[in-house]
Amino acid sequence: MDSKSVRDRHAEYLFPSVSNYYEEPVVLAEGEGLRVRDVDGREYLDAFGGILTVSVGHADEDVNEAVTAQVRRLGHVSTLYPTVPMVDLAEKLARITPGALKKSFFVASGTEADETAVMMAQTSTGSSELVALRHGYSGRSALAQSLTAHNGYRGLPTQIASIKHAPAPYCYRCPLKLSYPSCGVACAKDLEELIQTTTTGRVAGMLAEPIQGVGGFITPPREYFEIAAEIVRRYGGVFISDEVQTGFGRTGKMWGIEQYGVEPDMMTMAKGIANGFPLGAVIATPAIADSFTKQTISTFGGNPVSCAAANAVLDKIDRDGLTENAGRRGDELRAGLDELKARHPKVIGDVRGMGLMQALELVVDEAGGDRTPAPAAVAKLFEETKKRGLLIGKGGLYGNVVRISPPLTIGKDEVAEIVSVLGESFSAMESA
Ligand SMILES: Cc1ncc(COP(=O)(O)O)c(C=O)c1O
Repeated sequence: MDSKSVRDRHAEYLFPSVSNYYEEPVVLAEGEGLRVRDVDGREYLDAFGGILTVSVGHADEDVNEAVTAQVRRLGHVSTLYPTVPMVDLAEKLARITPGALKKSFFVASGTEADETAVMMAQTSTGSSELVALRHGYSGRSALAQSLTAHNGYRGLPTQIASIKHAPAPYCYRCPLKLSYPSCGVACAKDLEELIQTTTTGRVAGMLAEPIQGVGGFITPPREYFEIAAEIVRRYGGVFISDEVQTGFGRTGKMWGIEQYGVEPDMMTMAKGIANGFPLGAVIATPAIADSFTKQTISTFGGNPVSCAAANAVLDKIDRDGLTENAGRRGDELRAGLDELKARHPKVIGDVRGMGLMQALELVVDEAGGDRTPAPAAVAKLFEETKKRGLLIGKGGLYGNVVRISPPLTIGKDEVAEIVSVLGESFSAMESA
C-alpha cells in the first residue's frame, strides 16, 4: 500500500472537510519516540505530536504496556461502574491540580470537556452567560463552536446568544492598538465593560486557554489572568482554564495557568492526558461538582483503557521529570527560534510561547513594518521542512503561524535538529 492510494481513498471516502497538511499529505504508519515513518518508508521528526497530544512520544513502551494489560483485562464498562484505572486517575488529578480542584468528570474529547465545564459553571452559579476569548478554540459541537472565535471553524452561523467574546490578549496584533506594558493590560480590564454592557451583569463564568493554541500560541501577558479572574468572580462567575493544549507539563509547569499564578475554579483537559488515547476530563471544586444533581453519563468517558494510558503518562511525566524537560528544552528551542528571527527579520514577525509550545508568526515584511499575515510563506515552509524530514504545525486566524510542540521527551539534539531544519528551510525559501 503506497501513500498515493491511501490519499486517493481518503479523498473518495472521507468528508472533504477532513483536510490534511501538505500538498501531498503524509500517510503515517509507524512511530517511535519523536520519529514517525510514512507508508513509503520516509522518516520524519515529529515536532507537532498529533496536535500536542503525543506527550511522551510515539508508541511509548510504558503506555503500550499499560494499555495492552488493560485491554486484556477489561476494555469497557461505561461510567455506570467504578473502575480502578478511573479512580486512580481521578485521585492523581486531584493531587496535581492547583487549589481546591478535586472532583473529576471524564469524557472522550476536549469538546465534551469544555461542554461539561460550561454546564457546571451554569448549574453552580445559576447564571447562564459566559465570557470566551476571540481567537479561542473550544471544539466542534454547537456550544464549542459558539465559544470558538475563528470563522474558519464555525460551520454554521448559529451563535449561542449567552456567550460573549472579549478581545484576545494578542500583543503582536493588539486589538486595542496599544503596547505592552504601557497598555496596563487594558484588554483584561475591558472584561468589566464587556460584562456590564453585553450581559445581565451576572455571569456564569469565563472559559479561556492560558495560551491560545489554535489561535497560534497567542501568549497573554503575565498579569492577564489575575485581572481577568478577579473581574469574572466579582460578577458572580467562575474561572475555567482550558488546559487541553497547555496541560500536562507542556509549558514547563504542569498547568498553563500556573504560569499566571491563578487558581481556577475548573479545568478542562484532553490531548496530552493519554498520549493519543481518547480521553478528556473536567476537574472542579467539590462545590461546583456537587451543583449538578441530574443524571448524566458518558458512555466512553473514563474508558479503562484510556485511563490506564493516562495513568502511565502521568507516572512517566513525574518519574522522568518531563515538565522540567519541557522547560529546559523549551528554552533552547526558543533561543534557536529567536536566532532564526534575527537571521530572517523580514518574514518572521513574532516568536512566542512557553516551554515546548512555541510559535513563529510569519508576515510579509516585519523589518519593513508590514505585518500583513503571510499564510503562503507558511505553506512554503511546510513543504521545505517536509522535504528535510520535519513535521510542524500551523495555526492562527490567518493561517500564518507555525506551531512547534514536540513530545515532552525531546532531547537537546532533536531541538537542535528542529532549529537547523527550520533555518535551512527559511534560507531555501529566500533563495527561491
Ligand atoms: C484549547 C482546546 N480546547 C478544546 C479543544 C477540543 O478538543 P477535541 O478536538 O478533543 O474535541 C481543542 C482542540 O484542539 C483545543 O485546542
